[in-house]
Amino acid sequence: MAHFPKPAEGSWTQHYPDLGTGTVSYEDSISPEHYELERKAIFSRTWLNVGRIEQLKRTGSYFTKELAAAGTSVIVVKGGDGEVRAFHNICRHRGNKLVWQDYPKEETSGSCRQFTCKYHGWRYDLEGALTFVQQQDEFFDLDLSEFGLAGVQTEVWEGFIFVNLDPDNTTTVAEYLGKLGTGLEGYPFGEMTEVYKYRSEIGANWKLFIDAFAEFYHAPVLHAKQATDEESRKLQGYGFEALDYRIEGLHGMVSSWGGMAPPKDPGMVKPIENVLRSGLFGPWDRPEIDGLDVLPESLNPAGHPAWGVDTFVLFPNFMLLVWAPGWYLTYHYWPTSYNTHTFEGTLYFVPPKNATERLRQELAAVTFKEYALQDGNTLEATQSMIESRAVTSFPLNDQEILLRHLHKTARDMIADFEQPAETPVGISAAS
Ligand code: FES
Repeated sequence: MAHFPKPAEGSWTQHYPDLGTGTVSYEDSISPEHYELERKAIFSRTWLNVGRIEQLKRTGSYFTKELAAAGTSVIVVKGGDGEVRAFHNICRHRGNKLVWQDYPKEETSGSCRQFTCKYHGWRYDLEGALTFVQQQDEFFDLDLSEFGLAGVQTEVWEGFIFVNLDPDNTTTVAEYLGKLGTGLEGYPFGEMTEVYKYRSEIGANWKLFIDAFAEFYHAPVLHAKQATDEESRKLQGYGFEALDYRIEGLHGMVSSWGGMAPPKDPGMVKPIENVLRSGLFGPWDRPEIDGLDVLPESLNPAGHPAWGVDTFVLFPNFMLLVWAPGWYLTYHYWPTSYNTHTFEGTLYFVPPKNATERLRQELAAVTFKEYALQDGNTLEATQSMIESRAVTSFPLNDQEILLRHLHKTARDMIADFEQPAETPVGISAAS
């Protein structure tokens, strides 16, 4: 399959002149007013990935998703017709939250035949229709067909469930994701159903964590202790260079080497990694499934033999990492205020066939957690100091190109929302 054309020689950033090369303000990550604009202009209008199709195994399977940035909660459910639908999680009687367990602000999941409101017992079927009203004859000409659940645009793309809270949205997920995203179609995501999930409340703006995972400039320094001492010294001496960067519309990606899966020199990694043949890059041995030998065109765009992982930054808050050894990872960053967000990191593997394979996956999962904790810790230190505004402008290097793009995309979307000149890529015009 054809790869995208490789850029000409030179700086990655200079291939995208709109990004500029000057210093960057982080006011967009410390301003409560700016965050309120992001909520309206971004999180209430773009396609948001809320989960995977495997979470809805049978008719009546459902989960809820808290979308604080969009000011709502949604129920995602598989109907009797097999369709996946999403609804605002609100009862049509007097507005009670419809689906929750012990704590109304916590997400939940399960399986049911209908949704029953805890307040006065109104019931809704899996397609959102109101089917039962307690003491219906006490109401005044109540037409049940007019009081179904408020629907949310929902689409499943490659097994990923997306919702869009803008009722006027006219784009499909594929149109929204553009060439970069649709270039992933055909990857065997659906085979990778062994899931490890982490979730954490982070005291930093949502974009700061994307920044941390969208560049590897920090890796040899912040994560120095993850390698052997000798390897760590080498990595810090050489620094890091990616294989490729791509930006298409709202989205971007960075392609990286994979020298540790397996390492050329066993001395590069820790003893347990050599014993189990696994580590940060996942189990070193590929699972035996179809779809891994010929990759979709967005993967390894440089066609590099040392390719290890491609990191896709899918605007606004979804990252997808596809690893050469045949597994993938997702990150979600759900804003809860201008300086807090909920982070979710989820690892997906082909189900293990034996205990050794399971241990390999578990080692990859705990290694990932260790790296993420190191990143999370740094973010809160960063947030606390940029909020001081003692320094207001920061230089970004060539490896930080996706950061420039993310912040610019978010700012541009707000500008367009406030003063729509023309419809931006993948977004319906602001009403
Ligand atoms: Fe749901 Fe009254 S608020 S039944």
